[in-house]
Amino acid sequence: MNTQLTPNDLTQVIEADRAHLWHHLIQHKPFESTDPRIIVEGKGLRVWDQHGKEHIDAVSGGVWTVNVGYGRERIADAVRDQLVKMNFFAGSAGSVPGATFAEMLIDKMPGMSRVYYTNSGSEANEKAFKMIRQIAHKRYGGRKHKILYRERDYHGSTLAAMSAGGQLERNAQYGPFAPGFVEVPHCLEYRAQWEVENYGARAADAIEEVILREGPDTVGALCLEPVTAGGGVITPPEGYWQRVGEICRKYDILLHIDEVVCGVGRTGTWFGYQHYGIEPDFVTMAKGVASGYAAIACLVTTERVFEMFKEAPDDPLDYFRDISTFGGCTAGPAAAIENMKIIEEENLLENTTVMGARLIDNLHALQERHAVIGDVRGKGLFCGAELVADRASREPAAEKAVQAVVADCTAQGVIIGATNRSIPGFNNTLCFSPALISTADDIDEITDAVDGALTRVFGV
Ligand SMILES: Cc1ncc(COP(=O)(O)O)c(C=O)c1O
Repeated sequence: MNTQLTPNDLTQVIEADRAHLWHHLIQHKPFESTDPRIIVEGKGLRVWDQHGKEHIDAVSGGVWTVNVGYGRERIADAVRDQLVKMNFFAGSAGSVPGATFAEMLIDKMPGMSRVYYTNSGSEANEKAFKMIRQIAHKRYGGRKHKILYRERDYHGSTLAAMSAGGQLERNAQYGPFAPGFVEVPHCLEYRAQWEVENYGARAADAIEEVILREGPDTVGALCLEPVTAGGGVITPPEGYWQRVGEICRKYDILLHIDEVVCGVGRTGTWFGYQHYGIEPDFVTMAKGVASGYAAIACLVTTERVFEMFKEAPDDPLDYFRDISTFGGCTAGPAAAIENMKIIEEENLLENTTVMGARLIDNLHALQERHAVIGDVRGKGLFCGAELVADRASREPAAEKAVQAVVADCTAQGVIIGATNRSIPGFNNTLCFSPALISTADDIDEITDAVDGALTRVFGV
């Protein structure tokens, strides 16, 4: 497929964009002399820009979101029908798609039971933090209020979510942050912090050390990504999660899993935590829930957590006194229902596992040819390749060179990602998260482009 769409005349759009739009996460100075990129149309895995140039999108909308691919008319139809019937009512009332999707979702999450709707991943995480704080007040006189988060993990862009943010470059200049958030070390074995045989257990033990230092009676929850996304696509080492579970149980610490990236199929299971036998108390999700067809995020809890908020019905402060206006939009769950049906009907979890294995194999093959690839990591269609200037010392590749690889791929019509303003000196991991509908040819096209780009940028 190489259809060049005839571009409409977008001159005015580009001018309006340059004059008035503030794009996310990008320096705007270059737009004084070059045009911003405008994505006009999408179908399947392909998108077309303002010049009519076709790209294969290997990052599902730039930020691992469009899991079922572009141009899904049945999702658009379901959203349209729902909006005409009932677009919004505050979340203190229910809605038909809201209840229907909640039931479908809980069916995929044994052990979980309640769904709280919000409109972004950051907001879903904030809701979990608020519940954790309220539980501390209700049960422990406010003492067990600290929330542990992990170095390199990211939980969102709002100030409380950034207080739980383990990426120094994202956080720089935005402090001071909220008190009561405490960092634990990352678990990336390639950047090992301990010389031991069982690295997974050792990295988890580091969490216990922080708990003991802070005082277990002050720690209410631990918030982790199942596979760290923007912090470098970090798959946890063997043994890590088992030990994390033991530690949480030992110190009565609630476990909050941030599935904003991994959730709804990205790693080949419905949720990333389901690879590891984890029993979470809170699960948050956003991006893939409706593949970007509507804004929706969910905080899912166990019945045990839910019960804590109706123990004293005569106390006006007893329940979760929170609202998200747009959590009451019905477009989100209407889109999410179709999104989930598509994943089931098209066997996309299985496809993700098979195509993810191909992507990892292809990246390993590239690693054999290109010394600049130091490490390859991933789970399902969620993979990373860490670039190094020197394999022996593991010195990270220069950020400009990493960006040159991304730019070279774009010029070839392949959009890939790279860790961006994340860890100082370590914005050196190429990221791949194509839609779950990817075929073998798509995967090969993506890695062929990377092969060419690495050769041109690094000469090897
Ligand atoms: C793991 C993780 N959590 C939370 C968020 C925040 O989600 P949102 O941008 O929808 O607020 C992100 C966004 O990239 C994320 O990667």
